Formats: sequence, C-alpha cells, structure tokens
Amino acid sequence: MDEKILRAAVVGAGYWGPNLARNFAASDHWELAAVCDLDADRAARVAGAHGGADVETSLAALLARDDISAVAIATPAGTHHSIAMAALRAGKHVVVEKPIADSASAADEMVAEAHARGLVLMTDHTFCYTPAVRKIRDLIAVGELGDILYIDSVRINLGLVQPDVDVFWDLAPHDLSIVDFVLPGGLRPVSVAAHGGDPLGTGRACVGYLFLPLASGAVVNVHVNWLSPTKIRRITIGGSRRTLVWDDLNPQQRLSVYDRGVNYEQIAADGEERRAATVSYRLGDTWSPALPEQEALGLMVAELADAITQARAPLTDGRAGRRVLGVLEAASASLASGTAFIPDPHRELELSA
Ligand SMILES: NC(=O)c1ccc[n+]([C@@H]2O[C@H](COP(=O)([O-])OP(=O)(O)OC[C@H]3O[C@@H](n4cnc5c(N)ncnc54)[C@H](O)[C@@H]3O)[C@@H](O)[C@H]2O)c1
Repeated sequence: MDEKILRAAVVGAGYWGPNLARNFAASDHWELAAVCDLDADRAARVAGAHGGADVETSLAALLARDDISAVAIATPAGTHHSIAMAALRAGKHVVVEKPIADSASAADEMVAEAHARGLVLMTDHTFCYTPAVRKIRDLIAVGELGDILYIDSVRINLGLVQPDVDVFWDLAPHDLSIVDFVLPGGLRPVSVAAHGGDPLGTGRACVGYLFLPLASGAVVNVHVNWLSPTKIRRITIGGSRRTLVWDDLNPQQRLSVYDRGVNYEQIAADGEERRAATVSYRLGDTWSPALPEQEALGLMVAELADAITQARAPLTDGRAGRRVLGVLEAASASLASGTAFIPDPHRELELSA
C-alpha cells in the first residue's frame, strides 16, 4: 500500500452512494472529501455521517476542485457517461457503478478518454471483490480446475418487474461481470443467443436464458428470472480436473470444489484403423476453501487506490464494463432477431490503460 492518502468524492447519494461513501471514509487509502447530489439534503445526510466531508450540489464546482483525485459515480446508468466524461476531462480518476454506461458505444468513449489522459477508469463490479469470487479467479488461474469446460450461472428470485429494462439488463450484468472476471482473458463469446419469456405480458422478458459459446469450445449459460419463488444464486464451473460450485446463499460453505467428473479419452484400437472411446468417472473428495470475511466494497476502493498509485489498470477496468455491455447489447439483438448474434469484438478498444 502506498503511504499517500488520496481524496475521493462520491457523486450520487441515493441507495448505493452511501455504501461507497462509507467505504471511502473507512479506508486507510482514502479520505472522503465530498459528497455531491442534486438533492442537497441527501448529500448532507451522507456527508454528515462521515464528519468532515463537504456537500456539493454542482458537479462543475466539484470537478473544479484541485484537492480531489478521484470521483465515484453512483447515479442512474443513463447519466454515467456524461458525468464520467466531465470528470475525466477535469483530470479525475473515475470509478463508475455498474453498468458502466447505458450503451457499449458510450463506454467506448469513456475508455478512450481515460486512456488518452492516462487516468484510471474503473467499473464497480462489486461481486468481483467478494472473497469467494476472488478465490474462484485464483483457483482457475493456477489451474486447479484444469481447462474450463462449462459455466452455468443461475440468478433467480421473485424480483421487481423493472419499468425500463428486461430481466437480462437487470440481473445478468452480475453473472457476466463475474464470468468476465474469473475467465483468464475475460468474457469474449463467439456468439450470444438469448431466449426470453414474458408469460405475464409485461412487455419485457421476465425469464431469460443466455447461451455463450467461447472460442475454447467451453460454453457459458446464464439463467435469470424475476418470477421464481425460490431464490438461487449459484455458479457451477466445470473444469477438466475439478468442478467448482459457488452458492452465495450458503454462508457456511459458499465454495465447494469437487474432485469428481468425467474422463473421456479416445484411444487407437486395431492399430490406427479404428478408434475407441473410454469413459470413466472420477469420484474423489469435495473440499471447501476457507474465505476471509471482508466487505467487497472495501477491497474495491483499495484496488482503485492501488491502480492509481501504481499507474496500472484496475482489476475491473472500463474495458471489463464495456465487455459486459457488449454481451447485453448482443443479447437484446438476439432476442429481437430470434437468432444467435455475433458480438462486435472488433469494436472493443484494446488499449493499454
Ligand atoms: N454495485 C452494486 O451492487 C449496485 C447496487 C445498487 C445500485 N448500483 C448502481 O448504482 C447506481 C445508482 O443506483 P441507486 O439505486 O443508488 O440510484 P438512486 O436513484 O437511489 O440514487 C441516485 C442518486 O443520484 C442523484 N443524481 C442523479 N443525477 C445526478 C447528477 N447529475 N449529479 C448529482 N447527483 C445526481 C439522485 O439525486 C439520487 O440521489 C446505478 O448505476 C445502479 O445500477 C450498484
């Protein structure tokens, strides 16, 4: 950790902004300098909870200050692009709540602006900073699971039918950001097929299935649903060596690693003329990795500080946010056309942050 204390401002003091403010205020890396909201009372309530932070109602006045190095944006998604662009142009590092913007092209502009100015642009993909998801990423990186064969993610519950977005845009950003984080190289599907159901006639998909084949031959499936009376938050990651299950609603055993699976081998039979397949099953142990108790947002703000002081891209950078939006846009196109849709990987800006 760098000794230097950085100063942050939180823009947006509604439901989520106070969580950001609390974590900046509690961090060894940060001082919470200001809270900005169009609603002065809201900003004052949040600033007052962390004595000493200033209240701002004007974004322009906030960005004109030279004692603030980073701005955290927790306003509605439709405002992310304009606030982030203004902050970057004012020379501030930026962390933006998910989704990073309301379109992939808006995210592209933000990524390009940050790159041109040598500033950090981070997306708060909060789940990626939970101890469980960080552990999954580490286990995959060291080859504990072997080659990834499939990922199956289920996020279902009785949810609010949203007025403006369907169930894919509401829930799947979480699954997609986690898959993007744990897969080495990020989530880059070769195509996106979405199937949605609207059995209540709400005008938008309330039940959704996403199928994302990867270039490696692995497949990712995401199931999201607002109409389920049971709540499930589970990701299964099948590998050639082991299979991992993350059950976020089981605090006693969030992660289970199964040394069980199928071995499939083709061997030459009768010389080279014929080939025969052998199938065998591994029935080994199951273990549960120990996980520290840490608040994800605390790790997120620490990662932002480290990225700034080390002049490197954060773990969930602007491009990660953009990849998630690219898949969501392809999912919407697939729903509208009834066919699998090829995302536009060529548009992704491969910039060194
Ligand atoms: N990471 C997570 O798990 C998580 C959870 C919840 C919400 N979020 C995200 O956080 C963001 C905010 O969501 P919310 O539920 O807190 O919304 P909210 O509506 O409760 O709060 C938004 C606040 O932003 C303020 N605001 C709007 N435009 C502004 C502007 N131009 N300048 C200053 N303030 C402005 C509003 O007055 C309001 O107080 C969204 O992007 C949402 O997706 C993330």
